[in-house]
Amino acid sequence: SRRSVLAATGGAGLAVGAAAGAGGHALAASDRPLELASIGSTAVPFHGTHQAGILDPAQARGHLAAFDLKAGAGRAEATALMRRWTKAASAMTEGRAADSDNQVALDAGPASLTVTFGFGASFLKKLGLPVPTALTPLPSFSADALDRRRGDGDLFVQIGADDALVAFNALRTLQRLAREVALPRWQMNGFNRSPGATARPMTTRNLMGQIDGTNNPEPSDPGFAAKVFVPAKGEPSWMAGGSYVVVRRIRMLLDAWDHLPPDRQERVIGRRKTDGAPLSGGSETTKVDLGKQKPDGSLAIAGDAHIRVAAPEANGGATMLRRGFSFHDGFAADGAPDAGLLFVAWQADPRQGFTPVQRKLDRGDGLSRFLRHESSALFAVPGGCAPGEYVGRRLLE
Ligand code: HEM
Repeated sequence: SRRSVLAATGGAGLAVGAAAGAGGHALAASDRPLELASIGSTAVPFHGTHQAGILDPAQARGHLAAFDLKAGAGRAEATALMRRWTKAASAMTEGRAADSDNQVALDAGPASLTVTFGFGASFLKKLGLPVPTALTPLPSFSADALDRRRGDGDLFVQIGADDALVAFNALRTLQRLAREVALPRWQMNGFNRSPGATARPMTTRNLMGQIDGTNNPEPSDPGFAAKVFVPAKGEPSWMAGGSYVVVRRIRMLLDAWDHLPPDRQERVIGRRKTDGAPLSGGSETTKVDLGKQKPDGSLAIAGDAHIRVAAPEANGGATMLRRGFSFHDGFAADGAPDAGLLFVAWQADPRQGFTPVQRKLDRGDGLSRFLRHESSALFAVPGGCAPGEYVGRRLLE
């Protein structure tokens, strides 16, 4: 079995006898504990008030999946599955092999693995449980081109890791553990910049080449927790410390985008491509000045610029935490990349986060003509659990 001893701090860890010497002849070396590189040894705690995979930085690899309960599976089976999944996820995120592990991640540390579980409205309905009003299906938007088979679902799993094999192993393990109870409904794979790829830690870029994530709310911002998480005494009580996640597969029409000269591309977003600075001036982190005018009297950030239309100021304070992954699923028959953003947005209530902002973007965003929303899902992601507990216990017990 995979045995990696991690420093309690989650810092440098040791893989005990895990690595055989090159060619298998360096016996002495393979007996000696070898240090994992920090990417492998970093562990993100699984247990806590909130589930992991929301506040921590998005990893280099991501898998999103929805499962549907099999016919005949009810509350008892769903509860047993959440117990099995929780046990496996907490083991794997500590760098231990889960039951039913297939050794895909044998030599690696946890590599910042996070596993996040959610419930769809259809799951609650099947179990005869009330559906929170915040989980009411999202309205449709004029620009939607949704494939229903790739949307919604009973159970949601988000996996992130800084190693592709660790991420795959987690997904495969959970799918095997679900087999008797739930089958995959849809599954999507994404990626972000690998840690260490840039000279200093930087906001990642998306597949349009923009620095993406700059103006995300920060945990230190006033009111952050109330906007992203359901409060401890919130409704329903099983969602205390939880969050609602909107997942959209947004294809980028990259051939059309590439035809746009860089200054026009910057106008569409309202930020410079090179360094992400707002067109109102300064550097990436300078506060956006939406009122700023150019010498000719026109707005420095255009009326239909994405950051103007999406800004909380323009949407009654509507706020969400965006934590997505890029995707590339090859090329379409016409040669266009099937690529874009697996948009993942977290909020205490989508009716005060995603929905008003997307309504506005749907009407007046310069970026939307380069995008196609191809799938959509909304899940209730309950709060985290303590060691020995399982995710969703307050709903299912
Ligand atoms: C900001 C790209 C879809 C909401 C930004 C920024 C970029 C960007 C480059 C500026 C940097 C930053 O602050 O992160 C994209 C792309 C999208 C997309 C490529 C689709 C593929 C969406 C959607 C929503 C959204 C669907 C919500 C419904 C926001 C918000 C901001 C933002 C709230 C921050 C605005 C501010 O206060 O400055 N996006 N975005 N984006 N985007 Fe998007």
